[in-house]
Amino acid sequence: MNVQFDFHDRHVFVFGGTTGINLGIAQAFAGAGARISVASRKQENVDFALATLGARALGLVADVRDDAAVAAALATSRARHGEIDVLVSGAAGNFLAEVNSMSSNAFKVVVDIDLQGSFHVARHAYEHLRKPGASLIFISAPQSTVPMPYQAHVCAAKAGVDHFARVLALEWGAAGVRVNAISPGPIAGTEGMRRLAPQGKQGDELVRAMVPLGRMGTPEEIAQLAMFLGSDAASYISGAVIACDGGAQGHLTPMIAAAAQAGMAR
Ligand code: COA
Ligand code: NAP
Repeated sequence: MNVQFDFHDRHVFVFGGTTGINLGIAQAFAGAGARISVASRKQENVDFALATLGARALGLVADVRDDAAVAAALATSRARHGEIDVLVSGAAGNFLAEVNSMSSNAFKVVVDIDLQGSFHVARHAYEHLRKPGASLIFISAPQSTVPMPYQAHVCAAKAGVDHFARVLALEWGAAGVRVNAISPGPIAGTEGMRRLAPQGKQGDELVRAMVPLGRMGTPEEIAQLAMFLGSDAASYISGAVIACDGGAQGHLTPMIAAAAQAGMAR
């Protein structure tokens, strides 16, 4: 059962909010009445998202690796929807690859999107967010705390995201801005799971074995946590990295290893 939140007087911006978990978050905030902005690299994904977000939603093409494009997207959204109240930073890239077979650019591309991109989003968001009650939410991952084979780039990047969130909570607390991160477990029907988990019966069995609640989560369940963190109900929560993972506590290594054995790593 979904808890009801009210974001009618709020502007919520979701970076990377055009597919998967992040789109689920944008849809949930839109359903709770927020003025919504989303941005990602591909026009087709922006169009796909806008078709689900209602007539008022703003969709922008911007790559989080491009500092100037991030600044421009935030300024455009403010001109349309006013000051930003909740910013979700969820753009990410992932693929399975062993360190020994990873090029310098392969490691760099994930760090650039997940970590450097988070810096660009946060750095430019501050002038739009700076007011008591505003909230920045990063989308992290279990790789930030649990080392996983074939995931060195993501482990490094998401560990950086968690700690970056903690530092921002220290620096922005005086302005009344809260900064937190959500660490989702395996979420059904997502690009992340398509890339990292064996499909079909083998994947289902692994999830049952690794997740105490015995199933994958849904984007709606991640969105419920995002809305809680973005709401006044979380007014004393800042600097936290909160797992929403059915109790798996990040222990998903067997799933990653099985996916690699199934030939999903190149
Ligand atoms: N294994 C090893 N290296 C890989 C790889 C793989 N499966 N996929 C990409 N790379 C390498 C490329 O070879 C390239 O390195 P090179 O220049 O030395 O050849 C480097 O990574 C960059 O790849 P490129 O395709 O140019 O990057 P991009 O900017 O177009 O795309 C990615 C970024 C690679 C992260 C792409 O997978 C993506 O767009 N992902 C977004 C969606 C996603 O990952 N969702 C899941 C989130 S959990
Ligand atoms: P997804 O659908 O691929 O979502 C990634 C989003 O980021 C897309 O909208 C993508 O759109 C955008 N994006 C990628 N690179 C970008 C860039 N350089 N600049 C701007 N936008 C960019 O994947 P997902 O599985 O739902 O994952 C969403 C988030 O949850 C990620 O942060 C991921 O690490 C985290 N997570 C997922 C799972 C899971 O089970 N799926 C588990 C733990 C954590 P474009 O392609 O149009 O740019």
